[in-house]
Amino acid sequence: MTESDDVKTKSSPSKPIAELSELYKIFKQGQNEVMALKNINLKIYPGELVVIMGPSGSGKTTLLHVIAGITRPSAGNVTVNDLKVEKLKDEGIQDLLQNHIGMIFQFFNLIPTLTATGNVEMPMIVSKMPKIQRKERVQYLLKEVGMIERANHRPFALSGGEKQRIAIAQAFANNPELILADEPTGNVDSISAEKIMQYFKKALVDNPEKAMIIVTHDIVFRKIADRTLILRDGEIIKEYGRFSQDELDTQKNAKISDQIGEITHKHEQTQALINGKHDHLFFEDIIQCPKCGSKEILKAYDKEAGALFTHNQQIITRMSIACLKCSEITYHYAGIYNIKKDLHQPHD
Ligand SMILES: Nc1ncnc2c1ncn2[C@@H]1O[C@H](COP(=O)(O)OP(=O)(O)O)[C@@H](O)[C@H]1O
Ligand SMILES: [Mg+2]
Repeated sequence: MTESDDVKTKSSPSKPIAELSELYKIFKQGQNEVMALKNINLKIYPGELVVIMGPSGSGKTTLLHVIAGITRPSAGNVTVNDLKVEKLKDEGIQDLLQNHIGMIFQFFNLIPTLTATGNVEMPMIVSKMPKIQRKERVQYLLKEVGMIERANHRPFALSGGEKQRIAIAQAFANNPELILADEPTGNVDSISAEKIMQYFKKALVDNPEKAMIIVTHDIVFRKIADRTLILRDGEIIKEYGRFSQDELDTQKNAKISDQIGEITHKHEQTQALINGKHDHLFFEDIIQCPKCGSKEILKAYDKEAGALFTHNQQIITRMSIACLKCSEITYHYAGIYNIKKDLHQPHD
C-alpha cells in the first residue's frame, strides 16, 4: 500500500478539452503584488477527473476562474474546447460559461426564489432549449442526483448536501464538456460528501467525453481522481497519479489478517495499539507530517478504507494525511474499538 508517484494519465487521448500554457496571474493591490498563479502548464483530457489540492491562498480558485474566463490571466494561454479563453470578449465568455463549462461552488450559488426544478432549468431557458426537452432534462438530472423528491423545494428548505446536488444538476444542465468544482463538499456533511463524490464519478463514467477539475480539501476524492495536483504559492509543486489498482484491490480483497500483517509491519503506531501500549490514538494528535515535520497538513478520515477488522474483533480506522510542504501522502491507522460495544461511536 505504498503511495506511487508515477503519473498515469489515460493513454494517448488525442486532444485535450482544456490546455493551459505558461499561465501567470498577478493581482495588484496598491503597491502590493500577489502572484496567484505561476507558470501553470496543464492539459486536461476527455474522461479525466483531476483533483487540485493545496493550502488556502495557493491559487486554486484563481486557477478555476482563469480557465472559466472569469479572471483574465496576466500572461499565458488557456484553451477550452478550441476556444482561446484569454482572447474571448464578454459574449464569448458568456457562451463559454453557458454551454461549455459547468461551475460548482462551495456555497451553492442557487437562486433562492426558484425551486430546485427552476434552478436546474434556468441555464436551459437562457440557452433557449425547447420546453419539452427542458422538462425532460430537468427530470433526468434531478433523478441522477437523487433529488427528484425535492423538485419543488426552494433552497432554504434544503440541506447543504441537497443544495449542492441541485447545484451539480444545474452545472450539468447544458451538457458542458468541462466541469469545474470549487470545494464542492466544503459545506456539506460527510455522508452528502460521499454521495457527491460518487455522483461526480458516475457522471464521468456515463459521459466519458467530459472532463472534471475538482478543487477540494477532501482527500477521499483522491480515490476517484485520475490525477491529483498539489498547488502551493501559485505553482503546481507535485502531481500524483491514480490510486494504484493494487492498492484498491488490497483494500477490497485482502484477507483481514493479511492486511493487519501488512499494517502492523509498516506502522509503528498501529503496532503500539495492537500490543496494548495505547488504548486510543486520536487523529487529532497527528499535527505534523511524519516525513518532513511540517505542520501544514491536510487530514481526512478515510471513510471507505477506514474500517479494518482485526482478528480480535476490533476495528482500526484510517486517516490520510497530505503534507503541503513535501507533498507526501501518508496513512495512519488508529483508534481501536471493540466492535460490539463501540462500532457506532465516532473515533473521537
Ligand atoms: N481579486 C483579487 N485581488 C487581489 N488578490 C487576490 C484576488 N483573488 C485572489 N487573490 C489572492 O491570490 C492568491 C490566491 O487566491 P485564491 O485563488 O483565492 O486561493 P485559494 O482558492 O487556493 O484559497 C491569494 O493570495 C489571494 O489573496
Ligand atoms: Mg478558493
